[in-house]
Amino acid sequence: MKIINISIIALAMLAGGFFACKPDNAGKSGGAELAGDAAQKVYVAPGKHDEFYNIVSGGFNGQLSVVGLPSGRVLRIIPVFSQFAENGWGYSEETKPMLNTSHGFVPWDDSHHVALSTTNGEHDGKWAFINGNNTPRIARVSLSTFRTDEIIEIPNSGGNHSSPFITANSEYAVAGTRFSVPPDANADVSINSFKQNFKGYISFVSIDKTTGRMAIKFQLKTPGVSFDLARAGKGKSDGWFFFSCYNTEQANSLLEVNASQKDKDFILAVNWKKAEQYLAQGKGKKEAAKFAHNVYDEKTHSATSTIINEVMTLDPKECPDMLYFMPCPKSPHGCDVDPTGSYIVGSGKLAAVIPVFSFDKIQQAIAAKTFDGSFDGIPVLKYEAVLHGEVKKPGLGPLHTEFDGQGNAITSFFVSSELVKWNLQSLEVLDRVPTYYSVGHLSIPGGPTSKPHGKYVIAYNKITKDRYLPTGPELTQSAQLYDISGEKMKLLLDFPTIGEPHYAEAIPASLVEKNSRKIFKLEENNHPYVAKGEKEAKVVRKGNEVHVYMTSIRSHFTPDNIEGVKMGDDVYFHVTNLEQDWDVPHGFAVRGANNAEILIMPGETCTLKWKPSRVGVTPIYCTDFCSALHQEMQGYVRVSPAGSKIPLSWGTGKNPTAEAEQKVAKR
Ligand code: CUA
Repeated sequence: MKIINISIIALAMLAGGFFACKPDNAGKSGGAELAGDAAQKVYVAPGKHDEFYNIVSGGFNGQLSVVGLPSGRVLRIIPVFSQFAENGWGYSEETKPMLNTSHGFVPWDDSHHVALSTTNGEHDGKWAFINGNNTPRIARVSLSTFRTDEIIEIPNSGGNHSSPFITANSEYAVAGTRFSVPPDANADVSINSFKQNFKGYISFVSIDKTTGRMAIKFQLKTPGVSFDLARAGKGKSDGWFFFSCYNTEQANSLLEVNASQKDKDFILAVNWKKAEQYLAQGKGKKEAAKFAHNVYDEKTHSATSTIINEVMTLDPKECPDMLYFMPCPKSPHGCDVDPTGSYIVGSGKLAAVIPVFSFDKIQQAIAAKTFDGSFDGIPVLKYEAVLHGEVKKPGLGPLHTEFDGQGNAITSFFVSSELVKWNLQSLEVLDRVPTYYSVGHLSIPGGPTSKPHGKYVIAYNKITKDRYLPTGPELTQSAQLYDISGEKMKLLLDFPTIGEPHYAEAIPASLVEKNSRKIFKLEENNHPYVAKGEKEAKVVRKGNEVHVYMTSIRSHFTPDNIEGVKMGDDVYFHVTNLEQDWDVPHGFAVRGANNAEILIMPGETCTLKWKPSRVGVTPIYCTDFCSALHQEMQGYVRVSPAGSKIPLSWGTGKNPTAEAEQKVAKR
């Protein structure tokens, strides 16, 4: 008990510095009291678990991180679009296909938005989806294995920013293109022909209910604008989707000026149930396209990449009553739907108000054809007719809005660096708190769902300036945790993040932890090069390929002595981890390999490819501290000159040649 108290005081003292405007204010009574109170609220005692998983995008590191809340402790990095040498993601033979695209192997991407799967609009704890912005892709991550299970490329897209956003029952993950592009099938056109030839494709990627398997069901071929963000309808607006769009000027150069001409841009309302009907009626057209679909199989522990050459498209010109534009003040960014599905909140990043649209009024305006002209053949609904109201003078540069489930919204403001709480009905501003600094996205646990879990809001900040110890030219980015359980929002904690914390969702630990995978069953391992026991370990030569069927168990490899490898060979170490205990991975590394290590989970097989670069004896070893004798978990591979007559031989403690040599070495 005493130890805990001391820790709380120590934390409080540390936190004192965080809350003060300047370091020399630390310890002054007001700040210290506040900090002490805050420290208790985020203190997770040693051995205790956090209440929420925070699944955080790594931004330009192309990964996800898993953070515990309220502590802010980083639990794991999940590699998605970027190679990750720490565990061999994108380096092992099994995972390389996951990073295949129609452009070939792409080892990096820029990840922005996380979407957790939902059933009936509520978190179900199955999967996390995340976008690759640069080479348009959507990934699905299992919340059981915390690994990337699937990546699908999005054709006809030039920057997969408005993605992935999912429908209430996870029927679709939806992706809108940030940069309109000419269709892949007819792409060699003049940039100046933007208005005629460029299209803003929106992709509806279906998600299988049981397996999560993705497929591009159809694409909407909309006018050439820039889609920024989106949210699905839910509750009464289930069946609709809302996308913010800018550059309705359709400029193709100097967008900072040319795409800020109009007083209002649009939110695009899509009736996707209607789109499904048109598809069923045969209105879809297959177009040539090229995209990769990569799937990781948990039984073979291997990924396959398939290239697909066509995509189904729907042209709005042939599908009336499917799309409507709603005017939205000045370059809308965030587009968020409240938990009931009644209100759609637009956030014009150059606007002085926050417009809130009413789904009921949208339906009435459509029925009464209360239009304000059209845009490229798509009706534009009259702004006043669909408006629930405007939040006046909320702040500068509204970006994103999430909901607390108590009838309130909280909006982030980049320019004025603050979070602002307002009431959805009255549109009155209720509270505001500063962020340090320049908040982008924000997250309330369950905030985008029908049933927010509330309790906290987390601000994901772009700039930290003086908030942390300096680390050279680049400083950390950060998140800030606020208590929203009372009337006033209260800052509790700052924590640095891995990469750029672009967007995140938080989900109660109780929905996820019970499903966490502990091992892969060895008897279910269908890897083509598995060795299910040491008796199955062997080395096989196929021309200049040498396949090592290797096993690892505390604390040795079988075989751990190999001879007969020759210069010019490609050596494949297929390492099966025979352990069937939780949290006993073994690592495997080879001196001088132009490759990463591999980290093999219990019951799994992973392959490291090695092209020997010199004649001699090369050590191999386990990289993960697996037991008291981890340091002994090692071996040797002898490489002889090309054309050498040394036969293949191998063993662990049994290879006569190796044993003899070891005895000599010991003398
Ligand atoms: Cu196995 Cu260290």
